[in-house]
Amino acid sequence: MRSHRLGVIPGDGIGPEVTEAALSILDAAQGRFGFTTERTEVPLGADTYLSTGELLTADAVTQLRGQDAILFGAIGSPKVTPGVLERGIILALRAELRQAINLRPVRLYPGVPTPIAGLTPQRCDLVVVRENSEGSYVGGGSTVHRGTPAAVATQGSVNTWYAVHRAVDFAFRLAAQRRGRVTLCHKTNVLVDAGALWLAVVDEVAARFPDVEHDYVHVDAMCMHLPVAPERFDVVVTDNLFGDIITDLGAVLQGGLGVAASGNLNIEGSAPSMFEPVHGSAPDIQGQGLANPAGAALSLALCLASLGEGQAAAAVESATAEVLSGLPALSGAGMGASTAELGERIAALVTEAGDGDGAAG
Ligand code: NAD
Ligand code: IPM
Ligand code: MN
Repeated sequence: MRSHRLGVIPGDGIGPEVTEAALSILDAAQGRFGFTTERTEVPLGADTYLSTGELLTADAVTQLRGQDAILFGAIGSPKVTPGVLERGIILALRAELRQAINLRPVRLYPGVPTPIAGLTPQRCDLVVVRENSEGSYVGGGSTVHRGTPAAVATQGSVNTWYAVHRAVDFAFRLAAQRRGRVTLCHKTNVLVDAGALWLAVVDEVAARFPDVEHDYVHVDAMCMHLPVAPERFDVVVTDNLFGDIITDLGAVLQGGLGVAASGNLNIEGSAPSMFEPVHGSAPDIQGQGLANPAGAALSLALCLASLGEGQAAAAVESATAEVLSGLPALSGAGMGASTAELGERIAALVTEAGDGDGAAG
C-alpha cells in the first residue's frame, strides 16, 4: 500500500483545532483511496517556547526534513511578543526547507456565501504566486533611540534576481497550464529599485512564454480590482509582503479567512513542502469550536495533490466545497456547527466519494 511520511505542526490557538479536523478528513481519504500516512507530530509554538525558550530546534528541522510533506496549523500567541514565534518558527521553517513559492489559490466554490455582492464562482478562480523567501521579510532593520520620541526605525527589503526569477518563472509555467495570463502585482511607482528588478525579470521570462499574456497592476489598485473584478486575473505573481496582504483580501472573496488554503512549495525537491491555512491562530475564537476548518481541509487537498494522491485531493476539495455551500455563515456561531462537526461532515462525504475528479477537475 502507498504510504507517505507526514509531519504535523498543530501550533497555537485554533491551529490544533483545525489540524485535528483536517486529520480526521485525512483518515477518511486514506480509507477511501487506499493509502496510509506515517505521521510525526512536531510540537512547535507558544507553549514549547514559553516552557523551554526554544523556537525552531535543529532536531525539529531534522525531523521535518525527513517527511514527504508537512501539515501546519497556525502559530502566534498574545502571550509572546509579536514577531518572535512568527519569524522564529514560520519564516524560519519556510527558509530552512527552501519553500520558495507560497501558492495561494483564490477560488469561490458554488453555493458558498461570499460577502462580495454578485460575485459568482465563474468570476473567481485565480492563483496568487507569492515569492516566499525574501522582500521585506528578510530585509533586516534597525532602530535607534527605541521607545523615545527620537526613535528612528528602518526596515529593508531584499530582492534578488535569482529568487524573483524563480517565482516569476513558476507563475508563467502555472499560467501556461491555466488560462494563460500572468499579472505582476507590485508598487513600481514608489519602490523603484525593487520594482524595476521585478519588471525586468517578467520581461525576460515572458519572452520564453509567447502563449502567456502578461500585464501589471499596482498593489493598491489590486485591492480595488480583486473584489470588483477578480475575473481579470488568472495567475498573480507578487512579492512576499504584497502577497501576504492581497491573499487575506482574496480569502474574503472566497467566503472568509477560514476558507483560504496555501502551500509553501519546495520546487527543487530538496525538502518537503508545507501546507497551511492562510489564517492565523485566531486567539479571539480559540477553544470554542468556532473556527472554520475549511482552510485547513483545502490545504490538506493541496498536500494530497503534491503527494500524488490526486483522487483523494479532488475528493477532499469537493467535499469541503459541498459542506461550505450548505452553511448559513462561514465563521463563528453562525456556521451552526462546530469545527469538529464540520470536519466530520467533510470526512463523511470523502468516505462516500466516487472516483470522479470532483470540484478540483
Ligand atoms: P487571524 O487570521 O488569526 O485572525 C483574523 C480574524 O479572522 C480573527 O477575527 C479570527 O477570529 C478570524 N479567523 C481566522 N481564522 C478563522 C477560521 N478558521 N474560522 C473563522 N474565523 C477565523 O489573524 P490575526 O488575528 O491578525 O493574528 C493572530 C495571530 O496569528 C498572530 O499572532 C499572528 O501573527 C498569527 N498569524 C499566524 C499565521 C500562520 O501561522 N501562518 C498567519 C497569520 C497570522
Ligand atoms: C501568513 C502569515 C505569516 C506571513 C506570518 C504569521 C509570518 O501572515 O502565512 O500569511 O506573513 O507570511
Ligand atoms: Mn498572512
